[in-house]
Amino acid sequence: MKRVFSGIQPTGNIHLGNYLGALRQFVDLQKDNECIYCIVDMHAITVPKDPEVLKKSIMDVAALYLALGIDPEKSIVFIQSDVPGHAELSWMLTCSSYTGELSRMTQFKQKSKMQESAPTGLFMYPVLMAADILLYDTEVVPVGDDQKQHIELTRDLAKRVNGKYGEDTFVIPEGRYMKSGARIMSLDDPSSKMSKSAENEYSRIQLLDSPSKIKKSIMRATTDSEGVIRYDQEKQPGIANLLNIYSACTNKPVDEIVKDYDGKGYGALKKDLVDVLVENLTPVQERFAEIRNSDELPKILAAGAEKANAIAEKTIKRVKDNFGLGNRF
Ligand code: AMP
Ligand code: TRP
Repeated sequence: MKRVFSGIQPTGNIHLGNYLGALRQFVDLQKDNECIYCIVDMHAITVPKDPEVLKKSIMDVAALYLALGIDPEKSIVFIQSDVPGHAELSWMLTCSSYTGELSRMTQFKQKSKMQESAPTGLFMYPVLMAADILLYDTEVVPVGDDQKQHIELTRDLAKRVNGKYGEDTFVIPEGRYMKSGARIMSLDDPSSKMSKSAENEYSRIQLLDSPSKIKKSIMRATTDSEGVIRYDQEKQPGIANLLNIYSACTNKPVDEIVKDYDGKGYGALKKDLVDVLVENLTPVQERFAEIRNSDELPKILAAGAEKANAIAEKTIKRVKDNFGLGNRF
């Protein structure tokens, strides 16, 4: 039984990459672990957000968590900003982080490149993420492999603080990455990862997409002119991505799928993949519609925040003790 923590940003457009890379593990891990799943709304405001849109996205992600099979009886589900410890611990960690290491974060470099002047929140993003994880004495963090660098930073910060303030300050967490689905690529450009923010909506399959949108996106997915179905990430990255998605959704090894399509064209693979996706997503969408409109959802989140806060308060007390902070005379 291990303590598991992970989070998803409420930025809408939860897609197949989020599901296959991260959310799927969340569901599996609840069987024999103590899991805490967070909607990281304070991370979402590192880029400007319309408050009304943010409110809706938070509830959408919460409903999706439950629709995908996260069970609030077994796992804690809550909203980050409902637990003040995240912001508190984030500051305490900030004071042990270096501007040099934060400037080297790939996600920061990419996101700040897109803006004229980078907001400080974007720079501090990984420190807040480290606080999320360390606040719960987390042992395992299930994420997609684009988060590896942030997990390593979290471990470095925890070890550095433990060295300064005592080895009992933080538990050192480990990342957990899926073997298949760890990196789902964009459908229109298989050299970049499927992302919530890409302009072309057909570059991703969103979990709430209609069958016709799924069909359109898959049928126009970029392939190549080889015309033979093989798994070759270098020469046929588009087909390799479709095979990865197919394999992750059916639990069938890629080799077997390649054999099944021996002598068939890309059209056949795409058509069947559309069916696989629609079959996988329809039940999730039905559960989502039920949960999203129920009165239970806000209650589940409030109960989750209370449980999370009880754990967080203990950690904050321990860290403040070790740091010498607060009224202790
Ligand atoms: P985000 O969309 O950045 O909030 O990411 C939520 C989770 O989904 C994280 O664990 C990411 O690592 C994972 N993730 C995001 N995009 C992809 C992708 N294209 N393939 C696999 N995992 C992803
Ligand atoms: N940075 C993560 C992402 O973009 C989201 C996140 C924030 C997270 N805090 C976390 C993931 C803590 C795992 C644990 O995907």
